[in-house]
Amino acid sequence: MAERSKSRAHRNPLKVLYSRLIAREFLKCYYHSRPKIWNNTYWMGVPVGKCPFDLWIYQEILYETQPDIIIESGTGLGGSTLYLASCCDVIGKGSIITIDIDNRLNCPKHKRIRQIVGSSVSPRILDEVKRDISSDDAVLVSLGSDHSKEHVLSEMRAYGAMVTSGSYMIVEDGIAGGHPVKKNHYPGPMEAIEEYLAEDPTFTIDMKREKFMMTFNPKGYLREA
Ligand SMILES: C[S@@+](CC[C@H](N)C(=O)[O-])C[C@H]1O[C@@H](n2cnc3c(N)ncnc32)[C@H](O)[C@@H]1O
Repeated sequence: MAERSKSRAHRNPLKVLYSRLIAREFLKCYYHSRPKIWNNTYWMGVPVGKCPFDLWIYQEILYETQPDIIIESGTGLGGSTLYLASCCDVIGKGSIITIDIDNRLNCPKHKRIRQIVGSSVSPRILDEVKRDISSDDAVLVSLGSDHSKEHVLSEMRAYGAMVTSGSYMIVEDGIAGGHPVKKNHYPGPMEAIEEYLAEDPTFTIDMKREKFMMTFNPKGYLREA
């Protein structure tokens, strides 16, 4: 009985709208408290630039899809790379190829992590990445480097074909460009996703991955058929 009334409440359009508004306002508060919150978030002592809800979603996706190779563009300070490696340790498989244009960053040392320095879309880097993947590897891609539409679209075109069936291409930070933060970064990842999906119908947006209501990656969990 309790279950039935709960699901009725969720179908109430006003309540749904109200929940969305609260989640949106919470995201804005969270994002704009950058020094206190998400520039002050760590995985095992290493700064991580992701929202914890998204990290949890990564964990669920990694467990379900069990990739052999995770390609990450945008190592940043390395917390997300180490987080991915830690998940792979628990699962017992997988390695991470992480790419960043900035060679001053200290990527964590870990047996599952291989760091490559250069632009994620340069032909040299793409060749290096392709050399590391075998034809029977399950591959997942996480794109979180330069958030301009142009760059994200180039990355999606370059890495989309590497994602294996049932796996994911995760496009980070679709909230930039006014969705609902960083209005001056328009067009950004969200606009790149929209254009890419019109070109490549093998990917679909997996809205289930937005179940926590707050994500930095709206429309960014893309599942390959
Ligand atoms: C938002 S940070 C990455 C955050 C990290 N993934 C995390 O969750 O902690 C973005 C990174 O992308 C890198 N970057 C910018 N343009 C790039 C490019 N063309 N290729 C590769 N990395 C790039 C920057 O140097 C920066 O370290």
